[in-house]
Amino acid sequence: MTEQNGDNKGGVMKVAALGDLHVKEDHSAPYRELFAEISKAADVLVLTGDLTDLGKPKEAEILAEDLRACAIPVIAVLGNHDYESGCVEEVAKILKAGGVRLLDGQAIELDGVGFVGVKGFIGGFGRRMLGSFGEPTIKAMVAESMSEALRLENAMRTVRTKRAVVVLHYAPVPETVEGEPLEIFPFLGSSRLAETIDRFQVSAVVHGHAHRGKYEGRTPAGAPVYNVAMHIEKPSGRPYALIEV
Ligand SMILES: [Fe+2]
Ligand SMILES: [Fe+2]
Repeated sequence: MTEQNGDNKGGVMKVAALGDLHVKEDHSAPYRELFAEISKAADVLVLTGDLTDLGKPKEAEILAEDLRACAIPVIAVLGNHDYESGCVEEVAKILKAGGVRLLDGQAIELDGVGFVGVKGFIGGFGRRMLGSFGEPTIKAMVAESMSEALRLENAMRTVRTKRAVVVLHYAPVPETVEGEPLEIFPFLGSSRLAETIDRFQVSAVVHGHAHRGKYEGRTPAGAPVYNVAMHIEKPSGRPYALIEV
């Protein structure tokens, strides 16, 4: 899916990126003011998953309501938490009805910038990645990780713009999960995503999931990667990152 919107194709786009909102049922307008602020600071808001805390429709409704305060386009991927209650289709429906352009293996174009989104998956990094060997459940996990990378690749192929932003929940590189316990690195992302990204020209990659990771890293081929999870310290000094592409 490629969507044309506007014609401001030469200029710099200010992307506000934020992940791991974890909206809970008992939250009251948790992000309304922040979204209003972001609308003034950026041209587009990108949300990198774990939008809800337990994947409950009520949580999605609270977020959708707050997003009414957001006057700029909103692009998002879901995270693992959004799957927790087995209501992911309903959660997605509520967010889409609230105007969120939810990406799950697609690309859209906004003002000359392509946005490509998948959730991604676990599996680990570099030579220590989990391999497809042994029990069927291990093989299924590796297959899921490869499938997400493939879906990212297929979406990347549809991008016709020079500038592209990749939106993920899981990390594509280990650098931006540094700060998390070493033991859980393999559950925070997969290098298979970076291998795919590096086959294309990418202006920026944003992800969340590693709440205690590090803001900035790079893929092996040099694409900038930003961990924009809510509590990561960012150069903007705000909960969201501001990235110019
Ligand atoms: Fe999270
Ligand atoms: Fe997560």
